[in-house]
Amino acid sequence: MPRENLARGWRAGRISATLRRIRGASASAGYGPRVASYDELGRTYSATRQADPRIAAIITTTLAGQRSVINIGAGTGSYEPAQTVAAIEPSLVMIAQRPVGSAPAIRAVAEHVPLRDNCADAALAVLTIHHWTDLAAGVAEMRRVARRRLVFLTWDPAVISEAFWLLAEYLPEAGAADAALAVPIDRLTALLDDPAIAPVPVPHDCADGFGAAFWRRPEAYLDATVQAGMSLFTKVGQRLVRPGLDRLAADLASGRWYGEHAGLLDRTELDVGYRLVTAAA
Ligand SMILES: C[S@@+](CC[C@H](N)C(=O)[O-])C[C@H]1O[C@@H](n2cnc3c(N)ncnc32)[C@H](O)[C@@H]1O
Repeated sequence: MPRENLARGWRAGRISATLRRIRGASASAGYGPRVASYDELGRTYSATRQADPRIAAIITTTLAGQRSVINIGAGTGSYEPAQTVAAIEPSLVMIAQRPVGSAPAIRAVAEHVPLRDNCADAALAVLTIHHWTDLAAGVAEMRRVARRRLVFLTWDPAVISEAFWLLAEYLPEAGAADAALAVPIDRLTALLDDPAIAPVPVPHDCADGFGAAFWRRPEAYLDATVQAGMSLFTKVGQRLVRPGLDRLAADLASGRWYGEHAGLLDRTELDVGYRLVTAAA
């Protein structure tokens, strides 16, 4: 189906209803549902989600010279640099999957970090801010506990919805719902002093199965285990993604996807909107 027909086919009402459902579930129970979501989807998290070494190297380089780091929304410990002194993570299921010998984990949320002021050189938040109930409070806490540097890995919803074929061509409703739940880059940078933003290209064989990780491996998006590791799928629900995934399956079977995306097949990495944001604490 041509892209313009898809765009016309969006039903604003359906998107709004989906957002109301997602937001209502979060708001009605406060801290609980977000923890519950990782206490559920976290059970299979490690199956598809582990640090990609090239992205890890970017984070490690960015934190070079910072002798102590607090990792916020640390999850299972992916991308956690060696100098991490504490990991803040609300989900016990995620904490339980942290490797033996990793930094001590404290069960807490970004919005209330139970550590004293200026207790580390840097604070790090990787692929987590879209889950926070209060971004400003979380960033303020990072600034409070870190003496020198703040580092975020996140994505720009305005870029990914255009640059990533899955959202632009197959799942526009899910993409719109995901964009509304994501954090616009300028909302994050407005909370920071003199921030720097750098694109983080996604390797074609990215080891970490986040949303756009499989941009050159389209069959992966049909796999339930892959979907279970992505908030794109777990937060918007099957009803919204099923028609688009059925169409993707048909296009893969017919070879149409490969014909229309031939330009991607020899790319080794792609900027699909992931961004490293750094700032002074
Ligand atoms: C996609 S995972 C990323 C985990 C890890 N940083 C990584 O890169 O693998 C998002 C994490 O954010 C955590 N999280 C959710 N709400 C949070 C909050 N309010 N404060 C801190 N972390 C939160 C989740 O429990 C989950 O472990």
